[in-house]
Amino acid sequence: METQHQFQVLVANESHLSFAQIICDEMAASAKARGTGIAKRSPEYIQQKMREGKAVIAFNQDGIWAGFCYIETWSHGEYVANSGLIVSPNFRKGGLAKAIKKKIFELSRQTFPESKIFGLTTGLAVMKINSDLGYEPVTYSELTQDEAFWAGCKSCVNYDILMSKERKNCLCTAMLYDPKDHYEPEETKEFFEEKKSVFERLLRIKQWKLLKPFFKEDKDSNTPSGGGAGKIKSFFHYFFNL
Ligand SMILES: CC(C)(COP(=O)(O)OP(=O)(O)OC[C@H]1O[C@@H](n2cnc3c(N)ncnc32)[C@H](O)[C@@H]1OP(=O)(O)O)[C@@H](O)C(=O)NCCC(=O)NCCS
Repeated sequence: METQHQFQVLVANESHLSFAQIICDEMAASAKARGTGIAKRSPEYIQQKMREGKAVIAFNQDGIWAGFCYIETWSHGEYVANSGLIVSPNFRKGGLAKAIKKKIFELSRQTFPESKIFGLTTGLAVMKINSDLGYEPVTYSELTQDEAFWAGCKSCVNYDILMSKERKNCLCTAMLYDPKDHYEPEETKEFFEEKKSVFERLLRIKQWKLLKPFFKEDKDSNTPSGGGAGKIKSFFHYFFNL
């Protein structure tokens, strides 16, 4: 298996436009395989990010496409999201996602030094990577309230859950890096390592708790209607925010 240093991780540009389709296809296929939601992206949107220098792309030594991630700005640049992280299934578990996230984080800090950087994820791997970079879990109220950002969730299968929770919670965990007020990466990393198994359990409980009313409604009427169900130390709050 290839390891992290055997990949080329680059800021994408015009020369990479032809990879947009395979990137979109892999994003959709991976979301389907995981059975989780995702904000859908078009190849045109991916290409625009490449043209703007707001994306990172990775290749293996033979020039085969291996991974991707891009930057979005919200609330007039107050917030930046590193979104759409994808690693080709052939190249997973070798540290590539970590390398891509590091690169896109550096690019974000360089291009938007004042912006808060955030991400939403359902996966433990991404929570780990974010923790290594200095992100901490936060409530949705600490994220951008830009309507355009949340509109991106409309194409996710869990959108009804998000709306039933008045945009305060959903299956994704929110994580944020605030350049003006943040923990050191060593601290957030250590915190994640200490709490990893708790996080894992909380993710499962959260999934069960948020999805349960929908399964029940589905059985009864087929129309989901919702209902039901300080800082770094009070992490239960970030998961449940009920
Ligand atoms: C999630 C994904 C990007 C991870 O890519 P990857 O290249 O395999 O990840 P890495 O090898 O860099 O792993 C990073 C860390 O997460 C851990 N990890 C990887 N997959 C994991 C998993 N399924 N569960 C828990 N931890 C995992 C690794 O052990 C590693 O930790 P370490 O630094 O202690 O070794 C990849 O599986 C993927 O593209 N999945 C589909 C799309 C997706 O889920 N995107 C994220 C949307 S927010």
